Amino acid sequence: MIVLVGYMGSGKSTLGKELAKQLRIHFIDLDEIIEEKIGKNIPQIFDIYGEYFFRKQEYLVLKKELEKRERRVIATGGGTPIFYNSMELINQFSQSIYIKVPVEELISRLKNETATRPILRNKTRDELKNFIESHLDERETFYKTANYIINYNSIDEAIAEIKTKFT
Ligand code: S3P
Repeated sequence: MIVLVGYMGSGKSTLGKELAKQLRIHFIDLDEIIEEKIGKNIPQIFDIYGEYFFRKQEYLVLKKELEKRERRVIATGGGTPIFYNSMELINQFSQSIYIKVPVEELISRLKNETATRPILRNKTRDELKNFIESHLDERETFYKTANYIINYNSIDEAIAEIKTKFT
């Protein structure tokens, strides 16, 4: 089992889907499973039930999926490794990969997506830059405990690099 971790906008889902296709194994996206389970999209879940509820659901879904021990690729949410003992669980059950993207690149990808991302909502351009810089710094402590770190330049390069480690 391969679990992808990394900040919002790092391309975990896009990369995960393509990687799973090439390895001929299934792909799942934790955010999508939570949305299906609750019957609402992520911004709605944050709005209606709050972040604490979301984090609990995220943890429960992660644990359940890891415990299936199936051969597949799982894309996590940017906050998944940070709460509870999730990163420990991820490392216990899977080969984990941190998809590392330079902070400037993340800022430029995320600046037009603040409305759909509850963590970034209501932030001005300046606030967003400062927020992402310090938030990524805090979260990297967790991401960096992954088994592998991939410097993500292009999807083809990243997949080639991952495949050398897993095949
Ligand atoms: C979050 C990241 C999102 C989603 C939620 C919270 C975060 O997932 O789980 O909006 O705390 O970083 P992506 O990283 O897939 O955007």
